[in-house]
Amino acid sequence: MTDSKVPKAHYAKPATIDLSQRTWPGRSITTSPTWCAVDLRDGNQALPDPMTPEQKRSYYGLLLSIGFKEIEIGFPSASADDFQFCRDLIERNAIPEDVTISVLTQAREHLIRRTMEALQGVRRAVVHVYIATSDLHMNFVFGKTAEQTRRTALEAIRLVRELARAQPESDIGLEFSPEEFTDSNLDFVVSLCNDVIEAWDPKPGERVIVNLPATVERRLPTHYADMIEAYIARQKYPEKSVISLHAHNDMGSAVAATELALMAGATRVEGTLFGHGERSGNVDLVTMAMNLQYLGIDTGLDFHDIEAIRDRVCELTAMPCHPRHPYAGELVFSAFSGSHQDAIHKGLGHAEDLRKHFGGWKIPYLHIDPKDLGRSYERFIRINSQSGKGGIAYVLKQDYGVELPRALLVELSGFVQQFADESQREVQSREVWEIFLKQFVRQDGPIRLVNYWPRPNADDPKVIEGEVHVDFGGRRQVLFGTAVGPIAAFVRAIRQLPVPEFVLQEYQEDAIGTTADAEAITFVRLESASEGTFYGVGMGHNIDQAAVSAVVSSLNRMLAQG
Ligand code: KIV
Ligand code: ZN
Repeated sequence: MTDSKVPKAHYAKPATIDLSQRTWPGRSITTSPTWCAVDLRDGNQALPDPMTPEQKRSYYGLLLSIGFKEIEIGFPSASADDFQFCRDLIERNAIPEDVTISVLTQAREHLIRRTMEALQGVRRAVVHVYIATSDLHMNFVFGKTAEQTRRTALEAIRLVRELARAQPESDIGLEFSPEEFTDSNLDFVVSLCNDVIEAWDPKPGERVIVNLPATVERRLPTHYADMIEAYIARQKYPEKSVISLHAHNDMGSAVAATELALMAGATRVEGTLFGHGERSGNVDLVTMAMNLQYLGIDTGLDFHDIEAIRDRVCELTAMPCHPRHPYAGELVFSAFSGSHQDAIHKGLGHAEDLRKHFGGWKIPYLHIDPKDLGRSYERFIRINSQSGKGGIAYVLKQDYGVELPRALLVELSGFVQQFADESQREVQSREVWEIFLKQFVRQDGPIRLVNYWPRPNADDPKVIEGEVHVDFGGRRQVLFGTAVGPIAAFVRAIRQLPVPEFVLQEYQEDAIGTTADAEAITFVRLESASEGTFYGVGMGHNIDQAAVSAVVSSLNRMLAQG
């Protein structure tokens, strides 16, 4: 037998953070952070096929329509496409008054000069300078000491400042990222960021965006929050900085990490729609924003048509959206399991009572009201081999306006279950309907009803004389029955056929739809001492005809079994 266990000491432990006085666990998020969408840079650079300029323009339009006011549009010094994209936005006057674009650059002179060239003529923009500050990167990848890194960073900031001041028509702000913040020495990062702010020397009221990234997620979300709280406690210029979060999702905890770090005092979040980005992605802004909206916070972002946004992003990035993506996944408002379907069905039926009781929207197994995302209930109860009667009842009611008697529903769910087991796939609502018709309505059997005329008796109109034309075993027969009421008269007539003794035990009629020309649907249950109990269903615009069809269906089922 092979031992597949990973040795305990295989991975380096993250440095501990001493924050015995942490206060963030006792705080809550009460206001929305500022959002910055980095889809066009961090998201785009991680796509197997980066977006074309035209696709980027379309994506940019989508971000604007969602309501983003800060958008990182690219890395102009890294590619001709990104440079041109930036120029196009500026030259075509495509940056709304209330929107600020940002552009990324490394802390290197020629890249900064090219970046500033790309920004010529912009009304307002942020230059985002980053430099690696972790031992792993600083020392091992770039062969630099902390002090060399500091020098490089400060030279870069001074150069951006000088070039920005040479462009007085543009309002240029600064964002600084110590790359791999969560893997860096906190004292070093704090002192470096203090120096950066001093070197930039913000105008009165101006703030430098200090973006503290979890470039690779190597810590638990609580550690990110601890580090953010520690940074905020130690920083020298709180009134001159905005603390920004930029979490990647290597451990799958980017959303949690960002939420806790907001509790720790950060006020800005960078991320991408659906978490596109390097490796397992950036923090997902859809989930982030919807989680805050769920807490009653106005995020300023509009995801009321999430399916259209999802489809557009998938199309532009050529990346699929996971069917279980919170909020946007195709399956997240679907229930297959019978007990879930039942609970949702009941919950929706009592939505108003539940709202009153809980003081807001609360439905079993539905975290959020699908309508808030432009999604509907219609397709959310789905049928497969795990489903039960609740789901079947729901789709028949929702899609066909039919409510079945409980015992009939139980019987139908057995047929649906068998179909699902055999086909080993999801059963469509149309297929449930077909199974229902085949089993209970269209009973091809020995009795085929040709016609039925119920006529009131000339002396006593309460008494009905029924004339039944049927084919039985391939032979046409005309039968007569008299009784009080058309159905009883029909039963008397049909009993003359060589069929087992039976009684009409249950009779229920309903309307399909609510209009005047609604179709009637009739359920009957015949019971035979020798054969058992059989449901039959008839439909039609004439109630009597629907009822006698139901009797024939039921009898044919009885004969088919006998
Ligand atoms: O993940 C990261 O550290 C980055 C920086 C450039 C901010 O994307
Ligand atoms: Zn990143």
